[in-house]
Amino acid sequence: MTNARGPIGMFDSGIGGGTVLRHVHRLLPAEDILYLADQAHVPYGPRPREEIRLLAQAATEWLLAQGAKVIVVACNTASAAALRWLRREYPNVPFVGMVPAVKPAARQSKSGVVGLMATPATMQGELLQEVVQEWAQGVQLLQQVCHGLVEHIEKGELDSPKTLALLRTYLTPMLNANADHIVLGCTHYPYLEALIRRVVGPTVHLVDAGEAVARQVARVLDEHHLRHPGTPRNGHITYATTGDVAHLATLVERLHLPAGAVQSATYAVSCA
Ligand code: DGL
Repeated sequence: MTNARGPIGMFDSGIGGGTVLRHVHRLLPAEDILYLADQAHVPYGPRPREEIRLLAQAATEWLLAQGAKVIVVACNTASAAALRWLRREYPNVPFVGMVPAVKPAARQSKSGVVGLMATPATMQGELLQEVVQEWAQGVQLLQQVCHGLVEHIEKGELDSPKTLALLRTYLTPMLNANADHIVLGCTHYPYLEALIRRVVGPTVHLVDAGEAVARQVARVLDEHHLRHPGTPRNGHITYATTGDVAHLATLVERLHLPAGAVQSATYAVSCA
């Protein structure tokens, strides 16, 4: 049973969903947040859909067992592969998922050219295809699968020459095509904003869905009468990882995420 005193549960393959957590915490400071980084299995992007579903289910089960009152799939890749399926499997659990912010980018573009950076599984997913069909017909959408970036970010390489070189490879064709908006379609990518700016300059708009997801979390809590009843209060944040706790603690600090306890999450999942 969902309990309004329980935490907001969030998960991602790694630290990427932290870029969403920042917005959720800012908008809902009274709420406790339990953030699960499935770093034993990062990256999700190159994996087959069935495998991502298994991982998303295991993460969901773990968060529910810790008392999470809502599950935020703070990962475009897991949303693409598993969100609809999760909603069917757990009809009594409120889920908030995400899809790359193509809609606002397409609406606001003046040049009519929008770049999209995402993982392979997100690019192949139906959620994105539907958004593109509905909202991006009037623009040229340059879809770039960005292999390797998630791995760099997980290692804390936010400004290494290798990361910069990868970004140049991915972004230069967008600039040459006159893209004026670039959608960061993976929750890891906003950590690279400063480096991306070095490649694209100051005028190109970088768009991500973090803030919109936070607003949706607030709406879902209201809809289900799940706001923490003890307000005003300061919510606690807990980070958990299926990987190395010390490494996650270092990333939380390095990426300037809101302070919180860091712990291990152990559960079985039948996946490499
Ligand atoms: N942060 C995840 C996303 O938004 C990263 C996916 C991955 O692990 O490849 O898609």
